[in-house]
Amino acid sequence: MKFFIDTANLAQIKEAQEMGILDGVTTNPSLMAKEGISGKDNVLKHYVDICNISDGDVSAEVIATDFDGMVREGEELAELHERIVVKLPMTKEGVKAAKYFSERGIKTNVTLVFSAGQALLAAKAGATYVSPFIGRLDDISTDGLQLIEDIRLIYDNYGYETEILAASVRHPMHIINCAKIGADVITGPLSAIAGLLKHPLTDLGLAQFLADHAKANQ
Ligand code: E4P
Repeated sequence: MKFFIDTANLAQIKEAQEMGILDGVTTNPSLMAKEGISGKDNVLKHYVDICNISDGDVSAEVIATDFDGMVREGEELAELHERIVVKLPMTKEGVKAAKYFSERGIKTNVTLVFSAGQALLAAKAGATYVSPFIGRLDDISTDGLQLIEDIRLIYDNYGYETEILAASVRHPMHIINCAKIGADVITGPLSAIAGLLKHPLTDLGLAQFLADHAKANQ
């Protein structure tokens, strides 16, 4: 399973990259705003900065909501770096744009997916990634992981190559359950990824090993 980090924070991307487990980065306009990145030139430069830290795919989201605008913005984003993935919203125009880009060999990530039907459309359009938002479904008392299972079944039934990118991951158990179900990729904050490291028995065991070593080597 691939691990993407869901942030526009360069320090956090660097930290995850240095752990040696990072496969890519996802961003969205809210995450860019959170880092105070505004203005077209600054936004484009920030995507290049991210590409220079991470050696995996970097999803950069279009702002346009019409097909022509998505194509224009997406082509500009794709020109920035060979690892940029054009992130498109799950709308009729977004599906058309995903088809357009897939026919031209440009990678896409169809985002804001909340149903199996939407994921089926993204796969038919040839999207590289589909992003079901599991945390936001959980937030409204709907089982986000069930959606991942449904998409997995549908994609496997027909051999769709679109990768299931479980998004809106909030904590380590989301990651573990996504791995059990067979999501291809997860994207989440550094805290969810780093949370996988933790176990109290590891901390206790290490403290004991170090204490025994120190005693024996006094
Ligand atoms: C996906 O690519 C989105 O950026 C993201 O996972 C949204 O997560 P949130 O629901 O925590 O904002």
